[in-house]
Amino acid sequence: MMLTEETKQAILKLQSLYPKKRSALIPALHLAQAEIGYLPQEIQDEVAALFDIDANEVHSVVTFYDMFFEKPVGKHVIHVCKNISCMLRGADGLLNRLCQKLEINPGETSSDGQFTIIASECLAACDRAPMMLVDDKVIGPVAESDLDKVLAEARQGPGHPCPLSKNEVLHG
Ligand code: FES
Repeated sequence: MMLTEETKQAILKLQSLYPKKRSALIPALHLAQAEIGYLPQEIQDEVAALFDIDANEVHSVVTFYDMFFEKPVGKHVIHVCKNISCMLRGADGLLNRLCQKLEINPGETSSDGQFTIIASECLAACDRAPMMLVDDKVIGPVAESDLDKVLAEARQGPGHPCPLSKNEVLHG
């Protein structure tokens, strides 16, 4: 598995937009993930080589942010906040119920490949606790009784988005 020449060119162009090319690492990882769907080690190594940095540095970024995935994920990604405000307003029960409905555990993907559930730290929408991020949509407060509707609406959407595209970078 390798990045296309076009994606590599987009990453090099991103680097040229910053005083220090290292600053382009996160957007570059978004482009790489948009192409492959996730960031396996060989792609992380390829990105590290483009930045002239150690692969461990890329790995530390990929594993720090839960917007990056080291394994394939479903078409839709649901982050359920489990941090303090959401926890106090029922996030644990919400997460458990969602996992029951999809017959998976946090971090796993449903058998139909549609949904991955991620138990997340604070997603900066504490006023909407308990909340979730469904693809790019903030939803909350969410009750357990809302979950069927949340899943049905998510199925209608285009799926987990990438915040930028190589076409925008190369031709924008
Ligand atoms: S604690 Fe859940 S969004 Fe902040």
